[in-house]
Amino acid sequence: AKMGSIARGALIVLEGGDRCGKTTQCGLLLKSLVEEQIQAQLLEFPDRTTKIGKIIHDYLQRKEDLEDHAVHLLFSANRWEAVPKMQDLLLQGTTLIVDRYAYSGVAFTVAKLDFDLEWCKQPDIGLPKPDVVVQLQLSTEAAMKRDGFGRERYENADLQAKVASNYAKLRDSTWKVIDADKSKEDLHTELLALCKSVIESAKNKPLSALWK
Ligand code: TMP
Repeated sequence: AKMGSIARGALIVLEGGDRCGKTTQCGLLLKSLVEEQIQAQLLEFPDRTTKIGKIIHDYLQRKEDLEDHAVHLLFSANRWEAVPKMQDLLLQGTTLIVDRYAYSGVAFTVAKLDFDLEWCKQPDIGLPKPDVVVQLQLSTEAAMKRDGFGRERYENADLQAKVASNYAKLRDSTWKVIDADKSKEDLHTELLALCKSVIESAKNKPLSALWK
C-alpha cells in the first residue's frame, strides 16, 4: 500500500451480561484471526492493569466502596486512557477485539441506580466508534447456571435483567444481537464469519466518534 493508505483495523466490541461467554469468545476470535494472518489484539474494559483500573477492581471485588457517579466516571476514564493506544493500533491496521465498552458503562450504571441514560452517556461521547457491537444474548437463568456467577458486585439476577433492557435502549445500526445459548464452537463459527466481514468493510472507512 502507498504511504498513508494502510487499511485500518476494525474496532469490534463484544457486550453481554455477566457469564454470557464474552471473554471466552474474545479469546477464540483472536486465535482464529491470528491464524488467518489478520493482525489483531484483545482489549478489555475495565482494564484492571492501570492505576484507575486497580481502583475499579477493588470496587468490583467489594474491597472498596465508592460514590456511584464517581465510579461511573472512573470506568469512562479507564476507556479514555486507552484511546491513544487504540487509535495507533487501528490506524496501523490492527483489528481490536474489545471485551465490553461504553455500552456496559451506561447499561450497568443505569441498572444499578436508575441514573439518567443521557447523563451516563456523556463522558463516553467521542470515544472511537465501534464498527460492530456484538451483543451475546443469554437468559439470566442460563447465565446463573454457569460457573463463577455471583462472585463480583453486579452479578445478581435482578441487576442483570435490567442491564439487558438497557442494552436494548442503546442498540443502533452497528449492533448485532447473537443468541449465546449454544456451544462455544458454534458461537465462535458464527462470530468469526461476522467479524471477518466487518474487518473487510472497515478497511476503507474513516474512524468515527461514538454518540456524536
Ligand atoms: P468484567 O466481568 O467483564 O471484567 O466486568 C466487570 C464488571 O464491571 C461487570 O459487572 C460490568 C461492570 N462494568 C461497569 O459497570 N461499567 C463499565 O464501564 C464496564 C466496562 C463494566
